[in-house]
Amino acid sequence: MTEVNEAPKGASSGGDGVDGSEPLLKLRGIDKHFGPVQALYGVNLDLPAGQVTGLCGDNGAGKSVLTSCIAGARQPDHGQIYFDGRPVHIRSTRDAAALGIETVYQDLALADNLDIVQNMFLGRELLSHGLLNEDSMELQAGETLSTLHVTTVRSIRQPVASLSGGQRQAVAVARAVMWNSKLVLLDEPTAALGVVQTQQVLELIVRLRDRGLAVMVISHNLNDVFEVADRIAVLYLGRMVAEGSAADFDRQSVVEYMTTGSSSGRPFEPAGSAGGEG
Ligand SMILES: Nc1ncnc2c1ncn2[C@@H]1O[C@H](COP(=O)(O)OP(=O)(O)OP(=O)(O)O)[C@@H](O)[C@H]1O
Ligand SMILES: [Mg+2]
Repeated sequence: MTEVNEAPKGASSGGDGVDGSEPLLKLRGIDKHFGPVQALYGVNLDLPAGQVTGLCGDNGAGKSVLTSCIAGARQPDHGQIYFDGRPVHIRSTRDAAALGIETVYQDLALADNLDIVQNMFLGRELLSHGLLNEDSMELQAGETLSTLHVTTVRSIRQPVASLSGGQRQAVAVARAVMWNSKLVLLDEPTAALGVVQTQQVLELIVRLRDRGLAVMVISHNLNDVFEVADRIAVLYLGRMVAEGSAADFDRQSVVEYMTTGSSSGRPFEPAGSAGGEG
């Protein structure tokens, strides 16, 4: 498929015991710095298929940097990424796309002057005899939007500039899932949205999960996180301080992890791990 799948020598012992429920994506020991700023310290994270993982953290905690490392937009300094149980190097967004990893960025990055179809196929246009295959692209774009139950858009030939915030977000999500993606990363998908539009995007996220995709959602809105997340992970100043089933958290504990790195003064302890001593 791609040449990204070679394990570096000596990395073969990485990862957890294989227990049959290997997460689709595993990060182990991811470090990333920018000059003097250490953005990520030894970050571990699991993103299982068929589950929504909510990634929480205060401004500057490292959520977007972590996302960009998974998306291939940035390279970690150290650490290993495993995809489907195999060590991979994601050196570009093209590598990520080849694995089935798609990202909806915080700033959306849609081209306002282009219509919905053009945006969904931007950089990956379908050609037929050297010409743009407009019919096929229109058909596929329409099908993707309708399987995601995106019904409020009047015409897929509308320029994106004329869409509402929620509709733009829906187009960005649809663009991400149109390419047989297995993992979708969403950075603040509801930040600019009203109540109704937020609800539509959350429903879209649940549909992706129900289609068996692994989904990672970054949000400052804990209502959104608790509504859709099966798992929660919290970054604090570049460190992963808590990760587990959403049932192991409540709003207060997430806020404590986000703002202090611990909850009631203690590091994260999953509910199932009773009796840990020390
Ligand atoms: N290109 C860069 N150069 C230098 N420092 C950077 C760069 N990108 C991010 N950082 C730093 O890395 C840290 C993490 O930033 P990041 O954007 O991941 O935060 P975030 O958790 O996404 O925050 P927010 O919630 O505000 O989006 C911050 O201290 C930030 O200043
Ligand atoms: Mg960010």
